[in-house]
Amino acid sequence: MNMSTRQSGYYTVLENKSIDDAVFRVAVAWKHATPPKAGQFFLIKPRRSSVLLGRPISVAHYDGRSVHFLIMKLGAGTRELAETGEGEELSMIGPLGNGWADFLPGVPQNGKPIAFVSGGLGCAPLMYFAEEPAIRSFPSFHFYAGFPTASPQLTGMITALPMPAHKLIVTTDDGTDGEKGFITDALNAGDYAAVFSCGTPAMLKTVAAICGKAGTACFISTENRMACGVGACLGCTVRTVYGNKRCCTDGPVFNAMEALFA
Ligand code: FES
Repeated sequence: MNMSTRQSGYYTVLENKSIDDAVFRVAVAWKHATPPKAGQFFLIKPRRSSVLLGRPISVAHYDGRSVHFLIMKLGAGTRELAETGEGEELSMIGPLGNGWADFLPGVPQNGKPIAFVSGGLGCAPLMYFAEEPAIRSFPSFHFYAGFPTASPQLTGMITALPMPAHKLIVTTDDGTDGEKGFITDALNAGDYAAVFSCGTPAMLKTVAAICGKAGTACFISTENRMACGVGACLGCTVRTVYGNKRCCTDGPVFNAMEALFA
């Protein structure tokens, strides 16, 4: 199997564990020769489900035999996933889209570190990217993680990465961990060769503006709603200077300097 080859099938749940009140981690047995790329996602739902469409979920980790996802309980589809037990099967389509590392060749090797900037569960695809050996070609990488409120479990997972960030900066909206405020307030983009970011559209817009002002390369993973996931329904449009793109097949990672924000 090629890394980017799309698969559709059933995958066995090896573990489904609550991380906190809102977030859970699902590990599924990976039955293919090569793992998904960091930044790619799957459309996922339980094999027996009341929802029509799988939910788009990014890969958070690959441990050699299973692929891990961090999922927030937001609606019927994700609540069903939260209740899926060990040994049950998930219906999954993927891996879909491009990956963070596809953009590394365009990052200047100017002696500066690179930065990951996440909002909330946007830390998940960046944690997987942190496992990418190619990022070690930069002097170091710094992880900026913003949360609404203290999330010791997610912060602990970032701290425990197999190749930990050289510097971890945490902010919370309510000041219960790290600096009080938005993670974008802590970012000095000029310190970095490139910034890779995943979070809300408003946060990505701010990150792109900060990087644009500093002249720093910036790559963002958009979190559009998706239906088909294969470029057919045009339901996941991302506006860019090159016209409308599809988040599911042209993204989800885009050069922020090419994206047009609302
Ligand atoms: S989800 Fe259908 S085109 Fe992207």
